[in-house]
Amino acid sequence: MVNQNFTTSIEPSCWLQRHSSLIPHSGPILDIAAGSGRHTQYLLDKGHVVISIDKDVSRLARIKSSRLFIARVDLETPKPWPFKNGAFAAIIVTNYLHRPLLPQIINGLAVGGLLVYETFANGNEKFGKPTNPDYLLKAGELIQLTLGHLHILAYEDLTVDQPRPAQIQRIVASRPTLHE
Ligand SMILES: C[S@@+](CC[C@H](N)C(=O)[O-])C[C@H]1O[C@@H](n2cnc3c(N)ncnc32)[C@H](O)[C@@H]1O
Repeated sequence: MVNQNFTTSIEPSCWLQRHSSLIPHSGPILDIAAGSGRHTQYLLDKGHVVISIDKDVSRLARIKSSRLFIARVDLETPKPWPFKNGAFAAIIVTNYLHRPLLPQIINGLAVGGLLVYETFANGNEKFGKPTNPDYLLKAGELIQLTLGHLHILAYEDLTVDQPRPAQIQRIVASRPTLHE
């Protein structure tokens, strides 16, 4: 797989900021492909326990918190997923896509847990990287992913100008409780 080190903002994603109040404080949050840790830091500041994984954890080391657990994981190896089903109160994925992981991400959510996913989509080619279809969501792909598993709370498929022009899809969805 080609390295997915696309340029990202240092500010937390506005999508995460808009929906972070929905994240339960009932368990840890998994920040997948956490990069510089902009979301790790943001969620720690909100009092959460955060597990941050990336194949390159060098930029996470600057973050100091007793509520942070960092793991170096190459998510694109045959058996990359070291977590139990239902382990997380939320899973955050931004600017990263590796399709074989998607079922494990869904299964990783506890009942009531929240998925916050935001990444580049088809059409981004005209703005710059990523241009590889492996890293670009297809039309409706996040909705298809969650159907029958999660309750969709918010979804957007749009062109954004900030932090730079890009075509993105983003979703917030929760694992329903048994009586929902
Ligand atoms: C564009 S950055 C996004 C970082 C962060 N999610 C954000 O939005 O600020 C993509 C991240 O994916 C990580 N990554 C790429 N391939 C990976 C792999 N095979 N396993 C784990 N992490 C990977 C990179 O190291 C990088 O930190």
